[in-house]
Amino acid sequence: MSRIDDLVSKMTLDEKIGQLVMRALGAGTIVTGPDAAAEPSVDDVRQGRVGSILNLVGRDRILALQKIAVEESRLGIPLLVGLDVIHGYLTDAPVPLAEAAAFRPDLWEATARMAAEEAAEDGVALTFAPMLDLARDPRWGRMVEGPGEDPYVGRLMAAAKVAGFQGADLTRPEAIAATAKHFVGYGAVNAGREYASVDLSERTLHEFYLPAFKAAVEAGTLAIMPAFHDIAGRPMTGDKPLLTDLVRDTWGFEGIYVSDYDAIGELVAHGVAADMAEAAAIGLTAGMDIDMMSPAYRDGLRPAIERGLVSVDLLDAAVRRVLAAKQRLGLFEAPYARGTIVVARPREERRALVRAAGAAACVLLKNESEVLPIGPTGGPIALIGPFGTTTREMIGAWYGLGDREEAVTIKAGIEAAFPGRTLLVAEGVSGLGGATDGIAAAVAVANEAEVVLMAVGEAAELSGEAASRTQPGFTGKQAELVRAVMATGKPVVLLLVCGRPLIETEIIEAAAAVLVIWHPGSEGGAAVAEVVTGRRPPSGKLPVSWPRHLGQVPVFYNERPTGRPYADGEFFVTKYIDAPNDPLYPFGHGLSYTTFELGVPEVDRAVFKPDQPVTVTARLANTGDLTADTTVFLFLRDCVASTARPILELKRFATLTLEPGEETVVHFTLATADFECLGPDLTPCAEPGDFELSVGFSADRKALQTTKVTLVS
Ligand code: BGC
Repeated sequence: MSRIDDLVSKMTLDEKIGQLVMRALGAGTIVTGPDAAAEPSVDDVRQGRVGSILNLVGRDRILALQKIAVEESRLGIPLLVGLDVIHGYLTDAPVPLAEAAAFRPDLWEATARMAAEEAAEDGVALTFAPMLDLARDPRWGRMVEGPGEDPYVGRLMAAAKVAGFQGADLTRPEAIAATAKHFVGYGAVNAGREYASVDLSERTLHEFYLPAFKAAVEAGTLAIMPAFHDIAGRPMTGDKPLLTDLVRDTWGFEGIYVSDYDAIGELVAHGVAADMAEAAAIGLTAGMDIDMMSPAYRDGLRPAIERGLVSVDLLDAAVRRVLAAKQRLGLFEAPYARGTIVVARPREERRALVRAAGAAACVLLKNESEVLPIGPTGGPIALIGPFGTTTREMIGAWYGLGDREEAVTIKAGIEAAFPGRTLLVAEGVSGLGGATDGIAAAVAVANEAEVVLMAVGEAAELSGEAASRTQPGFTGKQAELVRAVMATGKPVVLLLVCGRPLIETEIIEAAAAVLVIWHPGSEGGAAVAEVVTGRRPPSGKLPVSWPRHLGQVPVFYNERPTGRPYADGEFFVTKYIDAPNDPLYPFGHGLSYTTFELGVPEVDRAVFKPDQPVTVTARLANTGDLTADTTVFLFLRDCVASTARPILELKRFATLTLEPGEETVVHFTLATADFECLGPDLTPCAEPGDFELSVGFSADRKALQTTKVTLVS
C-alpha cells in the first residue's frame, strides 16, 4: 500500500479536513489579510486540524511547529509551510514588473532560485509566487507584482520563475514549490478597482489571460492559487469548469489548488453560498484543495458532508493531492531539511545578482541632449525628491524578511559612484502628501547644481495589494516640486520610483531625461547609479504601455483591429477628439546611451506548410560609441483569420550585447504553433493565409520593419 493510501485509510474525518486547512498561527506571523492573528493554536497542529501554515517566519519557530506536527500528531504528517516570497526573501530583487522590464528569462530564473535558497534555509517550502496576472490598467496596484501586459512575456516569466523556485527536483531541500497566481483574469477587475468583479469574454480569457498559467503548469508548478474575483458572476474559487475541467483534466495539472486568503469563505459575500457549508461544498466541488484562512473547510466541510452537499470521495481526492504535494516536496522523508540546511550563496554574490537585476530593469524613456550618462567630473549634482534617501522605496511591495534598512538608497548609490563630484541633497516634499515647505530649499539646491536628479514617484505602499489608485501619478506636492525645480532651467533627470506607469505626461515631456527605476530592490541605489554613470547603460524595456492620459486606459499594444482604423485627418475613424490614441510610450520602449539599427527582416521561406519552421533574420548594428545591450522584438500579425487577430502579437524577443560599430544578425525560429490562433470553438488551429512578421525595438508600429510569409495547407 502506498504511503498516501495508508494514511488516508487511517485518517478520521477531522484529520482529513485538517489537511485541507491552511492557517496563520498567531504570534510570529506576518499579516497579509484580515484577521490573520485569529486562532488556531499550536494544539490544532498537534490534533491534525491544520495541515499547512502561512506567514510564520523564523526558522526556529517553523522547526518547532514542524516537530509538533511530525512527532506529536497522531499520524505524523508534516506541515506545508507557505509564505509570499515574491521578489526576494532576505535579498530583494526589483519588484516583478521591473524584472519583467529586463526581458531576461535567465535573470528571472536566477533571482527566483536565490530567493528559494534563502527561504528554504528558514524552513519555507512553498511560495505564493509567481504572480502571472496580465495587467493593462495602471489603476490596479497589483500590476507591480506581475509580468505586465503581454501573454508571451507572461508565459516566459511563468516558466522561468517556476524553474527558479522549484528546480528540477522538488525534494531537494533548497527548492521551494511555486504557486501560479492569481488564476485568472484578476488584472481585468472593473475600473482597476481591487477585488472588484471581472467580465471577460471567453476568447480574451483564452488568448490573453490563460497562457501564462498553462506555461506554469507545463513547467510543473506544484500549486495554483485562484483569485478573489468572479468572472461574470462565477467566483474563481468555485469555478469547476476552469479549475477542474480545463486545468486538471485538459492541461493535466496534478498539483494543488490553494485558495487565496479567505476566498472560499468569501463565496458567501459573493452571493453564491448561503453559509460556510455551502461555500465549502462549492470550493471542494470546483477542485479547491487548500483553504487559506477562511472558516469554510474547517467549520463547513463536515456539515456539508452531513447535508449531502459533497461526498467523502471528493474530500479524499483533495486530501490525496495535498499529501502527494507534501511527498513531492520530500517532506515525509526529511521534514526538517528545510530550516536546517545552509545553501544560500555568499551575501556579496546575492547582492551582485540583485544589483545587476536592478540595473537591467531601469527603462530610459527619454534622454534629450544626452544629459545621461553623467560624467565622473564636473560641477555639483543635486538629488532632489522624497525618495532619494528612503530604503523602503527601493524594496517596494511584498518585501522579504531582509533588513530593509540595508537597502542601498539612491543617495548612497550616487555618492559612492561619483567620488569626484559634490552631491547636494534636498527632500523637497514628502512622498505621501503634506507640506510644500521644502520646495524653496530644493530650488536653492538645484540652482547650485550642474545637473539635477529627481527621485520622485509613488511610495512603496501605494502599489501592491489593495492599492488601487484613480490617479496613478505623483502623490502629494511632488508635481509642484518638479515644476519649481524645472523652472531653474537646470537639466532635470527624473528617476521615476514606481510600481506602475505614472501618468504625468506634462512633466515627463518637460524633463530632460526620464529613467524609470521602479522599486529596484535591495541594491536599488547602487543599481541606479550604475545606469546613471553609464557603467551599465540602460537596457530595460517597458513591459506595459505607458499611458498618456488616464482616459486611454486600458491602452495596450496587442488590441484587435477596428473596421475604422485611425487615419490622420479623417473624422469617422477610431480616435479621441482630445488626445492621440497612442500611449505616451509603447510596450517595449526603452532607450540606450548608444544607438542601434535594425535591417529589414528576411525569412528562409516565404511560403511554408504546417510543421515547417520559419526562420526570421535581421541585421542589427550598434551605431553608437558604447558597448550596450538591446532587446529586439519579433511581432506577428495574422492578416486574415476566421476571428480577427490582434494588430500585433509578440512571438519572440532576444537581448544582445554589441560593441560600438559591431554588427550581427538576430535569428528567430518560429514553429507552426506560433502561427496558430484559436478557431471559432476556441481550439488552436493554424489557418492558411498571410502573416506579417515585424522586427523592432518596441511595439511602435511606425518604426517596425516588416516582411510577409504565407502558410499553405
Ligand atoms: C493575496 C495573495 C497572497 C495571500 C497570502 C492575499 O491577500 O492576494 O497574493 O499570496 O494573501 O499572503
